[in-house]
Amino acid sequence: MAVNKVLIVYYSKTGFTKKYAEWIEESLSEGLSCDVFSYSKRRKIQLSQYDIILFGGGFHAGQINGIKWFKTQMHKLSDNANRRIAVFATGAMPAEAPDIEKALRQNFTEEEWAKITAFYLPGGLCYEKMGVGDRLMMAAFRALLKEKNVDSQMQQIVAHSFDLTSKELITPLVEWCVSFRSK
Ligand SMILES: Cc1cc2nc3c(=O)[nH]c(=O)nc-3n(C[C@H](O)[C@H](O)[C@H](O)COP(=O)(O)O)c2cc1C
Repeated sequence: MAVNKVLIVYYSKTGFTKKYAEWIEESLSEGLSCDVFSYSKRRKIQLSQYDIILFGGGFHAGQINGIKWFKTQMHKLSDNANRRIAVFATGAMPAEAPDIEKALRQNFTEEEWAKITAFYLPGGLCYEKMGVGDRLMMAAFRALLKEKNVDSQMQQIVAHSFDLTSKELITPLVEWCVSFRSK
């Protein structure tokens, strides 16, 4: 399979997914032609011209931001057995958290899951860049943890901003893309 073009589309509210999208582009651009679009520019994208399509978004109460739109686009794409599709989700969970696959999977039907490869990249929390609605949601989440007396370590973790991002964590995703490159 001759792979020429890679597309990265990312939906980032506070910058974690954007940072990973930029790192992925930087790494892939060494050997592949790579276009990057933020979700706000999604109407300019012609998905059918790409051999590898990567969609990235942050988890938001279990749902991957922008995934509804991306899945609609996936369904519109004509069947091309050679096209590879991957989704990378970022979140506040550490990479070794249990149930990551379950969290990813619940965003897809069985049929959709069979067509994609999914990666989890730990992001963090950034209260400084969060919108008012999200700050309120996080306040409600913290209150719920306190009320239910959920493990105090977890309560402390979500009380402040933190950043779990690291460039080397993109390696499996980058290797996955490179494995399709034409020799
Ligand atoms: C309201 C809200 C809900 C969130 N829900 C989840 C979640 O369900 N699981 C998770 O791991 N992280 C969750 N997070 C953390 C974000 O997914 C994390 O900050 C992500 O890296 C954001 O990426 P972005 O800055 O690119 O949008 C949530 C954050 C907010 C503000």
